[in-house]
Amino acid sequence: MAQDDNRPSGTDLIKGVESSALAEDGMLVGRVGEDEVLLVRRAGRVFAVSAHCTHYHGPLADGLVVAGTLRCPWHHACFDLDTGEALAAPALAPLVCYDVVERGGRIVVTGKKAPPRPPKAGGAGGHVVIVGGGAAGFAAAEMLRRRGFSGRVTMISNDGAAPVDRPNLSKDYLAGTAPEDWVPLRDAGWYAENEITVKLNTAAVALDAHGKRLRLGDGSELAFDKLLLATGAEPVRLAIPGADREHVHVLRSLADCRAIIADAQKAKRAVVVGASFIGLEVAASLRTRGLDVHVVAPEQRPLERVFGPQLGDFIRALHESHGVRFRLGNTLAAIAADHVTLKNGETLAAELVVIGVGVRPRVGLAEKAGLAVDGGVLVNEWLESSARDVYAAGDIARWPDPVSGERIRVEHWVVAERQGQIAARNMMGERCAFRAVPFFWSQHYDVPINYVGHAPSWDDIAVDGSIEGRDCLLRYRKAGRVLAVASIYRDRDCLRAAAEMEAAAAA
Ligand SMILES: Cc1cc2nc3c(=O)[nH]c(=O)nc-3n(C[C@H](O)[C@H](O)[C@H](O)COP(=O)(O)OP(=O)(O)OC[C@H]3O[C@@H](n4cnc5c(N)ncnc54)[C@H](O)[C@@H]3O)c2cc1C
Ligand code: FES
Repeated sequence: MAQDDNRPSGTDLIKGVESSALAEDGMLVGRVGEDEVLLVRRAGRVFAVSAHCTHYHGPLADGLVVAGTLRCPWHHACFDLDTGEALAAPALAPLVCYDVVERGGRIVVTGKKAPPRPPKAGGAGGHVVIVGGGAAGFAAAEMLRRRGFSGRVTMISNDGAAPVDRPNLSKDYLAGTAPEDWVPLRDAGWYAENEITVKLNTAAVALDAHGKRLRLGDGSELAFDKLLLATGAEPVRLAIPGADREHVHVLRSLADCRAIIADAQKAKRAVVVGASFIGLEVAASLRTRGLDVHVVAPEQRPLERVFGPQLGDFIRALHESHGVRFRLGNTLAAIAADHVTLKNGETLAAELVVIGVGVRPRVGLAEKAGLAVDGGVLVNEWLESSARDVYAAGDIARWPDPVSGERIRVEHWVVAERQGQIAARNMMGERCAFRAVPFFWSQHYDVPINYVGHAPSWDDIAVDGSIEGRDCLLRYRKAGRVLAVASIYRDRDCLRAAAEMEAAAAA
């Protein structure tokens, strides 16, 4: 069976399937007891792994096999076919692997494999301090322990909540369709079990990079052997009358999200300022909660700068079809208790206002410490900053992107996590370059949009398929090269594009 026509089936893999049912590079879903199991044939070997991704349960049979890895169709997590390890985020937990034999023209699953033992401690021990309890910081801590780091790990976060699944804060959790227990990346017991000290509500206020000391907001100091800066980004606030009112919110943390939900439960009408990802996802979530929603933004088309005019028009029409009303080419002049006033004098009733006008990387700590900063903390391909043993990852890091050949900084969940993972391995003494192709996803109602690569500008956009039909792949080309690809329900094509860019970056 070709990889493109795999069909999930209820075949009992303990009884086995005909060998001919699984072609080279083919996939086949069956079951082992109650579990759905995916068979994959690759380079003459047959692998059997759990059929669903450990991130959000994506159907791996719709994914792609690339060399010895299996890629998830939804958010491009990458698993080792042999060990099940989640090699690249956003999945962090491994797939269950099964023992499988091929004999007498049949493929038979014989049982579950024992989970692999954690490897022996790699590199030097010592004390790793991570500043930031977000995507990059958490993924780094998890990778240190997963790879057997035996030294101390301390995570400092000025947030009151342990690391959360931030993308959920503008999507299901905000919409009221996911319970709060989906939000933490791990429960408190996990940090204790893994001996990761997490200091919440604690700011890192000064860094002595040469003396290897970090000063905290409570006046105490921490000595470190290696430091990871993963301080993320800060929402931009508006400097207009009324912007400090209680019903005016930004959205970055779980506390921000809870405050919006509390106001959304009392409000009937909301104004969202900003028609970029967070603004639009918030608008969609508030519509799901039944609020009347206006979106106010200066641009003429939502997300045109990232996706171009065709997809921008589609996204606008999609939101309008769900009842969102746009006031584009406009900005806010003032916010009163029950309405906002636009620059053109129009007023819109609103008991809830959410500002989603972008973020600034939190580079203050790095700057004050004298690290090289230029629109982000400058790092090399190993994610080392200009100071020895100080690394940076996530929204603050500007790294040399092998695909575009430029130094870039992006604000994507998966990039932040993968950088945290690579920084962790390098802090343990490995020497792995960060070569991942940038990837992000955004969700608008039932329409997921996936994007790989980085195209701040382009000469043309080649549209394959139908945007209105929600079945398309857009290629953003400059000087004859595809810099980025966006897709709606073309998951495997998008994975292929990512694999091609990855291969080009590795060459
Ligand atoms: C609501 C929302 C939805 C999103 N949805 C998506 C999505 O669908 N897809 C996508 O690709 N991206 C999405 N993003 C972007 C993504 O979440 C970020 O790119 C990612 O979180 C960046 O990770 P980070 O580790 O760099 O920063 P963060 O996750 O922001 O973590 C930074 C941490 O550092 C802490 N900190 C900062 N300064 C200090 C200090 N001085 N001392 C101590 N602690 C400090 C902060 O409290 C925080 O815990 C979304 C972002 C938001 C806010
Ligand atoms: S569901 Fe697999 S990466 Fe998100």
